[in-house]
Amino acid sequence: MALEEDCQFAIDEFPSNTELAALWAQTWPFPATQDFQISLRACLLHITARLGGKLIGFVKVASDGGMHAFLLDPTVHPDFGRQGLGTELVKRAAALARQRGAQYLHVDFLPHLRGFYAKCGFEPTEAGLLRLA
Ligand SMILES: CC(C)(COP(=O)(O)OP(=O)(O)OC[C@H]1O[C@@H](n2cnc3c(N)ncnc32)[C@H](O)[C@@H]1OP(=O)(O)O)[C@@H](O)C(=O)NCCC(=O)NCCS
Repeated sequence: MALEEDCQFAIDEFPSNTELAALWAQTWPFPATQDFQISLRACLLHITARLGGKLIGFVKVASDGGMHAFLLDPTVHPDFGRQGLGTELVKRAAALARQRGAQYLHVDFLPHLRGFYAKCGFEPTEAGLLRLA
């Protein structure tokens, strides 16, 4: 059975900072410095994936309040990687962003994830990033 069929997905759930930081520490190469609750409240949407109650996946979408939305922080615990969960989270986030009024979903990423985002349905574009701090 596919992993996503065993997972429980929740829309706009607010996991604790401790739970999110634990997932982040397992997944990202740098520690979490953000207050997750502030960014969750500011987002257009966020989706969690749990397996047996354990938080194993996460994604959020920011918005300009109009047609543009921006996919942020798709995260899958490495013990559950490469089983389709990241793609499933992104597809659910895209569908919900559309329901909530967005017409374009933007993302930026490092080159090794080009294939991941292509499988999620993103077309390549030119994009830029300006470091502010
Ligand atoms: C990126 C991430 C969310 C992918 O989650 P996932 O559940 O492993 O993704 P999927 O199983 O849906 O992957 C689908 C396809 O995307 C590609 N892919 C996924 N992760 C990849 C990786 N780390 N490197 C290269 N290709 C990758 C593969 O083609 C994969 O298909 P395959 O396993 O049949 O080869 C997960 O690796 C992660 O949390 N990474 C750390 C955080 C991060 O960098 N997030 C993205 C920020 S832009």
